[in-house]
Amino acid sequence: MKVDVLNGVNLDVLQRRDPVIYGGLSLHELEQQIEAWADELGHTVRCRQTNSEGEYVKFCHDSLDWAEGVIVNPGAWSHYSYAIHDALELYSGPIVEVHLSNPEERLEEWRHVSVIAPLAEKRVLGRGPVGYREALEFLGAAT
Ligand code: DQA
Repeated sequence: MKVDVLNGVNLDVLQRRDPVIYGGLSLHELEQQIEAWADELGHTVRCRQTNSEGEYVKFCHDSLDWAEGVIVNPGAWSHYSYAIHDALELYSGPIVEVHLSNPEERLEEWRHVSVIAPLAEKRVLGRGPVGYREALEFLGAAT
């Protein structure tokens, strides 16, 4: 199955973010791990990341005609970007929302809302990198 993995804002500096929350690995290491899991599960995966909201919207548009499933971690945009919501709303395949941390259990109230959650067939929160594997497994089982 063809799967897009779309990581958003600040995930490019993952290794610099609080290791207690994010585990200390780099985006490159995370993407290598995702690619290895995808191979194992028989998926063709495209991992993409950007710090530009407009480019992220474009990634979502690119998924429309290519991906059979989409895994999204838009980072902080998850909590307020109606533009990303509307882009993902166009997608008719399964969407899995993944967060390395569990935003719902974090102190900041603004993290408790996800504007993309209503579009997600599944949400994987607070599982660290393995959350992406769970998302890949879910998509494999969903087809
Ligand atoms: C995150 C959680 C968000 O609240 C935060 O803004 C991020 C990362 C996560 O993967 O845990 O940038 O999406």
